[in-house]
Amino acid sequence: MKIFVDSANLSEISDVYSLGIVDGVTTNPTLIARSGKDPKTAIKEICDLVKGDVSAEVFSENFDEMISEGKALYSIAENIVLKLPLTEDGLKACKYFSNKGLKTNITLCFSAAQALLAAKAGAYYISPFIGRLDDIGQDGIKLIEEIKIIYSNYPNLKTQILAASIRNIDHVLESAILGADAATMPPSMIKELYKHALTDKGLEIFRKDIASTGHSI
Ligand code: E4P
Repeated sequence: MKIFVDSANLSEISDVYSLGIVDGVTTNPTLIARSGKDPKTAIKEICDLVKGDVSAEVFSENFDEMISEGKALYSIAENIVLKLPLTEDGLKACKYFSNKGLKTNITLCFSAAQALLAAKAGAYYISPFIGRLDDIGQDGIKLIEEIKIIYSNYPNLKTQILAASIRNIDHVLESAILGADAATMPPSMIKELYKHALTDKGLEIFRKDIASTGHSI
């Protein structure tokens, strides 16, 4: 499963990217606003740092403007994946760019029916928002399961499932168990994935035991 960092903060991204297990970055207008930078500058800096896919989202909501913003975003770097909302205009723009062989990420997906249409529009990634469904008392992970079943039923649909809006480690694990192709999460969540109290405790024991011998390697 690919692991993406959900952030537009360059120092946060750089910190987790140095681990060597990060496959790319996802951003959205909220994250770009939080970065405090000009959008194109923020995206360019991320693309200069990260070799894998970098999702950059359009701000506009109508087809013509999405096409013009999309062209501007794709021109920033070769690893740009254009993020488009799951709306009528977003699906049309997705088809427009996927017909040109460009990578797209359809975002704000909250139903399997929406995911089916995104795949028909040629989306490279579909981003189901797990956490925001849980927030309203629905089952976000069930959505990943449904999309996986539908896409598996039709092998000609090549869209990859990118689990998004991840709030906890279980979201990551359950997405992986269900076979999501990718998951995007805040940098702090990536750090939580490798931490375990027994790892820390085990290291402490090893440290004390070897220190008592006075040996070194
Ligand atoms: C993904 O592409 C989105 O940017 C992100 O996962 C949304 O997460 P949130 O619901 O925590 O804002």
